[in-house]
Amino acid sequence: MAFSGRVPVRKLGPGGPEVPVFALGSWNIWDRIDADERRALIARAVEVGAACFDVAYYNMGPHAEASRTDLLFGEAIHDLGLARSDYLLCGKLWLWEYPRTGFAAQMDESLERIGRAGAAPGSFDTVVVGDFMGDIDVAQVVRDVQAEIDRGSFASWGVNNWPAESLRLALDTASAEGLTPPSFAQLKYGLVRRSMAEGEFYGRWFGDGALALQASDAFEGGILVGKLAPNRKIGADVGGIRERIVAAYPRVAEIAESFGATPAQLGLAFCLANPATANVLFGASSVRQLDDNLGALDLLEREGGERIRAATAELWLDRDVRADGVWAP
Ligand SMILES: NC(=O)c1ccc[n+]([C@@H]2O[C@H](COP(=O)([O-])OP(=O)(O)OC[C@H]3O[C@@H](n4cnc5c(N)ncnc54)[C@H](OP(=O)(O)O)[C@@H]3O)[C@@H](O)[C@H]2O)c1
Repeated sequence: MAFSGRVPVRKLGPGGPEVPVFALGSWNIWDRIDADERRALIARAVEVGAACFDVAYYNMGPHAEASRTDLLFGEAIHDLGLARSDYLLCGKLWLWEYPRTGFAAQMDESLERIGRAGAAPGSFDTVVVGDFMGDIDVAQVVRDVQAEIDRGSFASWGVNNWPAESLRLALDTASAEGLTPPSFAQLKYGLVRRSMAEGEFYGRWFGDGALALQASDAFEGGILVGKLAPNRKIGADVGGIRERIVAAYPRVAEIAESFGATPAQLGLAFCLANPATANVLFGASSVRQLDDNLGALDLLEREGGERIRAATAELWLDRDVRADGVWAP
């Protein structure tokens, strides 16, 4: 039965906005589907109260993909005639060329691209500051983020897969200098990847309420919903466990079936069973997929988080991955 309620909201960490528990990603999404499906998917997200969109210009570092996904998203929200208050926008700030390519230039370009067809979003609600390789002046990053907040580009921020030590420095800097601290962390989190989000470093920040979790890559780019060899680019394989993830899929499907649910619903209900999770950011490339995913709310309600965690305990595959987020590709 199609979902007919409203997606609940949770707070995206202290100082963060209230967000629906589901958000839609843009990476390899809007540029893989046609204009009618883009509009229908965005309209459905608005209808159910899940109009929270992570939209980035993928143009640097490992993401030098010259992607048009952000332009196509902007075109769709313009075609739909959405008001800015109809949706939440989460942007991305890349550190791959930082400080050579600074934050103001990235924000201006990103907002210009989303608004190019006429939608003019004006600002992001929040942004994720991306991961990085090698050394970076974390204290300066916090100051530069503050400058963008002061310029009105966004109101709050989070980090993506940062090593715990860098995040600690960012929190300490913000506290010492009276700047805005990150309010959430976007991590890989789901049935098979739990070490970082539930581990001793991030787990403590989530537990004491210093940060909220934005779970992402929860379907491992599609593998955990049965696309065993995705033909789209998917996230990095931290720990080199992808073959084991592919091999685990039949068990995911079996457990989902035992609950009368789909693999996608099981994966999302697992994420939401963790009280640290404010929001799950997934890629959906059709209204059908979004509707399927919305069924996770009913599954969680029906079975409860404890039963879902107990039934899926065997699927935790990244036990040997470091909880502090330090890894080399
Ligand atoms: N923190 C990180 O390291 C990290 C890593 C990767 C991504 N991300 C972020 O998270 C966002 C989401 O990640 P993602 O899109 O790469 O991966 P994902 O959410 O794990 O998987 C998305 C794919 O799953 C499939 N799917 C979704 N719902 C489905 C359903 N109900 N039934 C069948 N298939 C379904 C779709 O495949 P098809 O389209 O092929 O049908 C979709 O493209 C990205 O936009 C990005 O911002 C973060």
